[in-house]
Amino acid sequence: MTALREFDVSVEEGEFVTVIGPSGCGKTTILRALGGLQEPTTGTVSIGGASPATARSNANIGFVFQDHALLPWKTALDNVTFLREMAGKPAATEQAREVLSTVGLEGFADAHPAALSGGMKQRVAIARALHLGADVLLMDEPFGELDELTREEMSVEIRRIWRDYRKTVVFVTHSIPEAVLLGDRCLGIEGPPATLAWEREIELPRPRDQQVFESTAFQEEVAAVRRLFHGDR
Ligand SMILES: Nc1ncnc2c1ncn2[C@@H]1O[C@H](COP(=O)(O)OP(=O)(O)OP(=O)(O)O)[C@@H](O)[C@H]1O
Ligand SMILES: [Mg+2]
Repeated sequence: MTALREFDVSVEEGEFVTVIGPSGCGKTTILRALGGLQEPTTGTVSIGGASPATARSNANIGFVFQDHALLPWKTALDNVTFLREMAGKPAATEQAREVLSTVGLEGFADAHPAALSGGMKQRVAIARALHLGADVLLMDEPFGELDELTREEMSVEIRRIWRDYRKTVVFVTHSIPEAVLLGDRCLGIEGPPATLAWEREIELPRPRDQQVFESTAFQEEVAAVRRLFHGDR
């Protein structure tokens, strides 16, 4: 099975790129290749000039998977600090608590995953990736399990975090409004095998906050991306 073919994309340092495409087209495979979790049979991936494996061993890539992948026997807080410790960095427990409250989980630091809802587990996974301190964040539908309201809040929050911490983000989503709200650039994927079908610079004011949702510019941009998505190019 060929999951990815002739896929040639560069992402600038500090850019926020969203990736959108139908289920099964190869979006997760793209992220796995970027993050060095899957070796391409041909072609190369380079993260700031280094191989994904090197970037990963330097704790320079933070992953948020489609499923949260938390360790069930560790508390939310320990899940957040664990990756940093694995990478040989100090646990920085106080900052970890702050990151948890950023994602709306103050008061749940000592809870185990079994005692958290799907959306809360996903937020712990986001906090864990942020706390790692990586420059590159690869996010695979991190808000998939969240309700609409939390999703909007988290979208604004992720933009804020991206801006404040100067991350480079590649963010996979099924949601056209989310792709528009979050992305400086949106990549449309078709497949399998995954190919780049279209791309669009998203010209919306920054910072993007709740007001952007209500703006005509946002609605127009969503409509334009929807047309691209449905093959009207
Ligand atoms: N380990 C594997 N072995 C064989 N085929 C695979 C494997 N992983 C993925 N695939 C196939 O590769 C294609 C792309 O899968 P991928 O998980 O990247 O899709 P996706 O775009 O992330 O889908 P979704 O939106 O549902 O998460 C699919 O057709 C899938 O069947
Ligand atoms: Mg996927």
